[in-house]
Amino acid sequence: MDTLKRLRPRMWLLFLPLLLLGAVATVAKTGFDQSAAHNARVLFDQGRSIFRYDTFGDEAYWGDTLRLHEAIKGAKLGGVGPGVSPRTALGVGLKVDVEALPEEVLKALKSEEINLDDPATTVALLSLNAVVGVQGLFDQEGNLVSVGITCALCHSQVDDSFAPGIGKRLDGWANRDLNVGAIVALAPNLQPVTDLLGVDDETVRMVLNSWGPGKYDAQLNQDGKAFRPDGKPAATLIPPALGLAGVNLHTWNGWGSVPYWNAYVAVTQMHGRGSFFDPRLNDPEKYRLAVQSGSWNIRNSPDLVTPKLPALHYYQLSLPAPEPPKGSFDQAAATRGEKLFNGAAACSGCHVPPLYTEPGFGMHSAQEIGIDDFQAKRSPDELYRTPPLKGLWAHTKGGFYHDGRFATLEEVVQHYNTLFKLELDQQEVDDLIQFLLSL
Ligand code: HEC
Ligand code: HEC
Repeated sequence: MDTLKRLRPRMWLLFLPLLLLGAVATVAKTGFDQSAAHNARVLFDQGRSIFRYDTFGDEAYWGDTLRLHEAIKGAKLGGVGPGVSPRTALGVGLKVDVEALPEEVLKALKSEEINLDDPATTVALLSLNAVVGVQGLFDQEGNLVSVGITCALCHSQVDDSFAPGIGKRLDGWANRDLNVGAIVALAPNLQPVTDLLGVDDETVRMVLNSWGPGKYDAQLNQDGKAFRPDGKPAATLIPPALGLAGVNLHTWNGWGSVPYWNAYVAVTQMHGRGSFFDPRLNDPEKYRLAVQSGSWNIRNSPDLVTPKLPALHYYQLSLPAPEPPKGSFDQAAATRGEKLFNGAAACSGCHVPPLYTEPGFGMHSAQEIGIDDFQAKRSPDELYRTPPLKGLWAHTKGGFYHDGRFATLEEVVQHYNTLFKLELDQQEVDDLIQFLLSL
C-alpha cells in the first residue's frame, strides 16, 4: 500500500489493467486445476465401483441364459443339482469380501455357527454382496433369480485377513486360485457355447474343465481353438490388472490399450451389453467364429459399457503394483541381481526399468524369446508382449509366461540362460531371482 500511496494517483491507474488481468488468470488457473483434481477423484471413485460391482447387464447371459444361479442354489432352493456351498465356492477360488459382512455374521463365522456346507449360506453371502466379482439378483421375496459377473471376479484377490479366501479386497491382483472353467462348467445350460463352437455339451464341459486354476481363454469364442498342437489347453494365465500406468500395450499378446481390452472383455467375454468394434477380427481364416457370430462388430442399445470406459481405464491405471513384503527376499542378493539384470544378463534391453517393458512397441516374435508361436498366432500382431515385472511376487502362483509353462522363476532364468548363452552360474541365477522378487 505504501508504494501505491507514493505513486501519483494517475500513475497507479496505469497498472490497473495489468493487475486485473493477473487476477483473472489466477482465478482461471485455480478453477481449471480444481476441476482436473475433482475429475480425478470422480473417475477414481466411479472406476472402482464399476470394476468391483458392474455387470454391464451380463446377468442376461450368466443367469437368464446359462442359469448359473440355479446351479449355485441347488435343487433344495429350487435350482438344480447339489448347489454350491461356501466351502465349494472357496475351493474353486471365489473370494469373500470381509468388509461386506455385518458384525453378527462375522461373529457367527468365528464361532463356526454358520454352516459352510449349505448352499443357502452362499445365497446369503450373495445377498450381502460379499462374493467378489459375483453379483446376485434377488426378487422381492429374497429369492436368487439371476447372477452376473464383474471384472473383480478374475482380477481381484483378498488379503485373507479373516480366513483363507476371506478378507479385504485387493483390486487388480490376479486371482490365480480361481477355476473359471470349473465354475462355468456348473451351468445347467451351455447351449449358446455348444452352438457357437459346433460341438456337443460334453466336449464343451471337457474343454472348460481342462483350463485349471488361474486360467481363462479369452480367444476361444473368436477362433475356436481349444487346444494347442501339443494337446495342452489353449487357456492363458490371468494377469494382474494393476501396475499398468505407462505401459503401452496390454494382454500377453498386446491386443491393444487398456480401454481397447476393457471393451473387448466386457462385451465379447463377459457378455455385457455394449459396443465393440475391431475389423482385425473380421477374418474368416483366423477368426472364423468372430465372423460367424459377428462379434467383431457389436452394437447394443442401450450401451452399458462405453460410458464406463473412461472411469474404468482411469481406475486401473491408478492401481500401483504391490510392494513385496519385508523379508520376502534377500536384499544383498537382489542388489547383485539388479546389476546382472541391467548388465551381463541383458534383461533390461526388453524389460526397461522402471516400467520393465519397452517404452514404445514392446512386442517380440516367438523366436526372439525362444518359445512356440501358438498363442502369438491367435492375436492380430502375432507377437508376444514384454510383460511389466513390478509386483511379480504377487502372481507367482500358476507359473510364468502366458501359459504358465515355467513353473518357477528358476526355470524362467534358466530358459534365458540357455537361449541367450548367458553362462550364468547358479549363484548368479539365484541373485537374478531375488532381484525379480524384489520388484
Ligand atoms: C473370466 C476372467 C476374466 C474376467 C471376468 C476379466 N478378465 Fe481381464 N483378463 C483375463 C485374462 C485371462 C487375460 C489375459 C488375456 C490374454 O492375454 O489373452 C486378461 C487380461 C486383462 C488385462 C491386460 C493386463 C495386462 O497384462 O496388461 C486387463 C487390463 C484386464 N484384463 C482388465 C479387465 C477388466 C477391466 C475386466 C472387466 C471389464 C476384466 N479384465 C475381466 C481374465 C479376465
Ligand atoms: C527379447 C526381449 C526380452 C529379453 C531380453 C528378456 N525378456 Fe523376459 N519376457 C519377454 C517377453 C516377450 C515375455 C513374455 C513371454 C510370454 O508371454 O510367453 C517375457 C517374460 C518374462 C517373465 C515372466 C513374466 C510373467 O508375468 O509371467 C519374466 C520373469 C522375465 N521375462 C524375466 C526376464 C529376465 C530375468 C531376463 C534376463 C535374463 C529377461 N526376461 C529377458 C521379453 C524379454
